[in-house]
Amino acid sequence: MSRLKDLFRNPAKRPQLVIWLGTAAIAIALVAAGSVLGTSTNWFCTEPCHVVHYDNTLTFNEGSHVMQSCIACHEPVNGSPLTFILMKIEVAPDLIPTILGTFHLPMNENHSVAFAMPEEQCTQCHTMENRTLSPSAGIIMDHAAHAAGGITCVSCHNRVAHPEDDVTYVLEGDKKHEDWMGMDACFRCHSLEAGALAPGACAACHPTDFDLVPPSHDATGWYAEFGESGGHAAAYTEEAARVTSAETWAEGLHEIEENETLDMGYEQTVNTCYTCHAKQFCTDCHGVEMPHPAAFATDHGNAGRADPASCAKCHARNEAEAEGTVFCNACHHPQGTPERPWIEQHFDAVKTGGATGCFECHDPKYCAVCHVSGPEAAARFIQQEAGQ
Ligand code: HEC
Ligand code: HEC
Ligand code: HEC
Ligand code: HEC
Ligand code: HEC
Ligand code: HEC
Ligand code: HEC
Ligand code: HEC
Ligand code: HEC
Ligand code: HEC
Ligand code: HEC
Repeated sequence: MSRLKDLFRNPAKRPQLVIWLGTAAIAIALVAAGSVLGTSTNWFCTEPCHVVHYDNTLTFNEGSHVMQSCIACHEPVNGSPLTFILMKIEVAPDLIPTILGTFHLPMNENHSVAFAMPEEQCTQCHTMENRTLSPSAGIIMDHAAHAAGGITCVSCHNRVAHPEDDVTYVLEGDKKHEDWMGMDACFRCHSLEAGALAPGACAACHPTDFDLVPPSHDATGWYAEFGESGGHAAAYTEEAARVTSAETWAEGLHEIEENETLDMGYEQTVNTCYTCHAKQFCTDCHGVEMPHPAAFATDHGNAGRADPASCAKCHARNEAEAEGTVFCNACHHPQGTPERPWIEQHFDAVKTGGATGCFECHDPKYCAVCHVSGPEAAARFIQQEAGQ
């Protein structure tokens, strides 16, 4: 102790003091720099945090940026050493769940990492202005149009460093994320409906020789005139149910981040039918609300008579039945064969099945319009039936 005091008080020892203090300062700086650099290596991000980042490392190793450092994307571009130290302090509390194994999975389920990542993170290495693109066959891409709108790179390339397709996650409770490079994800902003932020017309993103009809539509029963068309209806019903449950999932999942130019939402809440079809396309063909409103069951007679063609499209079993109100027979007189008009068959039905069933819908006076002996003839049928 006295030697230390001596060092400070004795003017003769001043050069020695300067050397010692200098050494101490350098040592502190080295330790600080060492810990900042050390905690910034991919080794530090993956090995000591082995458990937490096990799955992220699997995806990272599959990606095109496997030779880049984690901090190139995950820490501010040209940040000062102080920024880095502050960031380390900010994430320090994560150490506890890491050690205890109580961390939450899936990590980044709400994509806040992508939503918060600024453009500079990518443009520090990439310049899109003079790059010739070689996109996948059939895809047209315009980077400048998005840059002009302040749309960040990871609004689309969110999985670029962590592709999940060929990876099997190991950690219990971990789940894969949305990938925004698909068409549905483009339709978070693009749309065929009027007033959309960006165009949905096929020609905006596909060349003219591109096959626009997806394979799902080739399935038998998808749509056939006067035939089985339940396929597309079932696919739509399933899709609409999926979207409803995704909307519940997405509700309140994230608040708008600093670098988000607009709240683009999640890919899962996009109804895939409405990426390729404007709603008008469906209603134009249906002509009526589908599925029918509840009131339809007991109140379709008038609607049907007013515009029978709008019903015949679906209810006629062939071209002949599509004339006038003949299609009504498809439901009302199922005893008849669709090949011949019902009027030519109705008496066969009466002869074989009796007329009682007819009067569930028809007033006997209805028969009388054509049958001169009308009500009497009807009464006779009923009696005949009762007598048998
Ligand atoms: C080229 C840029 C880039 C590099 C390099 C990179 N990441 Fe990422 N990382 C991202 C982006 C972008 C996301 C956001 C993904 C999203 O929200 O869908 C992300 C997400 C994550 C997540 C959240 C979980 C997930 O899968 O979404 C973790 C954890 C992570 N990165 C860790 C790492 C580690 C560890 C390294 C180094 C081994 C690394 N990252 C290297 C860009 C990068
Ligand atoms: C530290 C430099 C660096 C950073 C930061 C970086 N990249 Fe890259 N990136 C590369 C290199 C190197 C390649 C491989 C050569 C090439 O295609 O340019 C590459 C390739 C790519 C590719 C083509 C290969 C593929 O997987 O599709 C895309 C897309 C890409 N980067 C997007 C991004 C995005 C988006 C970001 C920001 C999240 C980013 N990069 C950040 C260096 C970087
Ligand atoms: C609106 C969506 C979107 C945004 C935003 C976007 N990209 Fe792309 N990018 C694409 C698409 C789509 C392709 C073509 C991919 C394909 O067809 O495989 C592509 C291709 C690329 C490629 C590969 C080029 C090649 O060699 O074919 C790179 C690198 C790239 N983008 C980097 C970036 C960077 C950096 C940014 C931000 C400045 C950015 N992208 C912003 C959608 C986007
Ligand atoms: C975050 C919103 C957003 C997303 C996501 C997005 N875009 Fe865009 N896109 C825009 C905006 C905004 C424009 C500019 C519209 C305008 O100028 O009228 C645009 C324009 C375009 C254009 C130019 C169209 C034209 O005819 O001018 C192409 C091509 C394009 N986007 C492709 C894509 C592709 C491919 C994807 C998905 C990989 C995608 N976009 C995802 C917002 C987005
Ligand atoms: C904003 C850009 C964009 C627009 C507009 C767009 N597409 Fe696409 N489309 C894509 C991208 C990106 C892919 C490739 C990624 C994928 O498979 O999801 C794709 C893939 C496809 C595929 C092949 C994949 C599949 O689902 O079978 C078909 C078919 C298709 N588009 C049809 C259409 C039709 C029809 C329209 C017009 C109504 C259209 N696209 C408009 C971006 C777009
Ligand atoms: C990737 C684009 C794409 C998607 C997604 C898509 N369709 Fe289509 N669909 C088309 C194209 C292209 C046509 C042909 C349009 C034309 O001939 O005008 C078509 C035609 C149809 C037809 C008319 C009958 C036929 O097969 O030509 C029906 C019905 C239909 N789609 C229903 C649906 C339903 C329901 C969904 C959702 C489950 C859906 N489509 C999703 C591209 C798509
Ligand atoms: C080319 C004509 C046509 C087009 C286009 C069309 N539909 Fe249909 N739709 C039909 C027919 C025919 C039926 C009756 C199906 C049956 O017999 O089960 C139907 C029935 C339906 C039903 C009712 C199913 C039920 O059992 O209640 C739904 C829902 C439906 N379509 C959704 C759609 C959607 C969504 C689109 C647009 C993406 C679409 N349809 C486009 C012809 C069409
Ligand atoms: C786009 C095809 C389509 C059109 C157009 C259409 N329907 Fe339907 N309709 C259906 C389908 C499919 C069902 C069966 C729904 C189900 O089983 O849930 C149905 C059911 C009905 C039912 C209920 C039958 C029952 O057993 O409960 C009545 C009544 C009916 N339609 C009358 C009409 C009338 C009247 C019109 C014209 C104003 C019309 N429909 C137009 C497809 C159509
Ligand atoms: C898809 C099958 C279907 C078609 C097509 C259909 N109906 Fe019906 N209709 C029914 C059924 C089932 C009932 C019995 C409803 C009940 O009482 O619950 C009924 C009841 C009626 C009734 C008595 C109740 C009411 O709505 O006032 C009238 C009238 C009627 N239909 C007229 C017609 C006419 C006219 C057409 C053709 C323009 C027609 N229906 C086409 C299935 C159909
Ligand atoms: C479920 C109700 C229902 C039953 C049961 C029913 N009908 Fe009808 N019938 C109708 C409706 C609805 C029409 C169409 C009326 C219209 O166009 O205004 C019709 C029309 C007719 C027509 C006129 C056909 C035409 O082409 O002009 C005859 C004939 C007829 N029914 C006979 C019968 C006979 C016979 C039976 C018993 C075997 C019977 N109906 C049972 C509802 C029914
Ligand atoms: C639109 C006119 C029309 C209506 C309404 C009508 N019928 Fe007929 N009916 C005919 C015609 C036409 C014949 C055939 C007469 C012939 O060729 O001998 C016929 C024949 C019959 C026959 C066979 C008579 C015989 O002597 O062989 C029976 C039974 C019959 N109708 C029962 C009914 C019943 C029951 C109703 C009411 C539910 C009804 N019809 C409504 C036009 C009609």
